[in-house]
Amino acid sequence: RLKAISDAITVVPHFPKPGIMFQDITTLVSNHKVFKHTVEIFVDRFRDMDISVVAGVEARGFMFAPSKALGIRTKFIPLRKPGQLPGEVIAEAYELEYGKDCLEMHVGAVESGERALVIDDLVATGGTLPATIRLLERNGGEVVECACVIGLPALKERRLLNGKPLYVLVEPRA
Ligand code: PRP
Ligand code: MG
Repeated sequence: RLKAISDAITVVPHFPKPGIMFQDITTLVSNHKVFKHTVEIFVDRFRDMDISVVAGVEARGFMFAPSKALGIRTKFIPLRKPGQLPGEVIAEAYELEYGKDCLEMHVGAVESGERALVIDDLVATGGTLPATIRLLERNGGEVVECACVIGLPALKERRLLNGKPLYVLVEPRA
């Protein structure tokens, strides 16, 4: 069943830059059966974890996070690239393979003591997820787990996520 998920991801060599094996999830989310199955695996996992917040990471994380929030009946909060949220925000910058980026969250989106999940499509170098953890924790949230559809199992051992558990469904394909 995980193989069907992996098979539904299209590998695009040398996109967006030479040497990058881009993991294209558009073919996963356009396959209703596989997309539904993907959501169900996460929802089954999260159902009994006493979660009250599901945070999604713009942009590709938005394809996966809201369905999980609905599935476990919790609120969804968007973590956005700079300048998109209208209210008061806190921001966290992070390193990319080339350059820097930043994510913002509305102040008050998470309340003190709330148990949160962070959902993204993919973990690669592990720069993005630690920034999301910092955002949630600065406002008193407790990050229980980060979960992605695609990631290298080796990342789990590398403490890239500030000690938070990382859950991934499938490995990137070459
Ligand atoms: C991609 C991907 C993850 C992140 C993972 O997002 O969707 O969010 O990179 O990389 P890392 O583990 O090395 O930090 P990106 O910001 O490139 O684009 P997006 O807006 O399409 O999600
Ligand atoms: Mg992204």
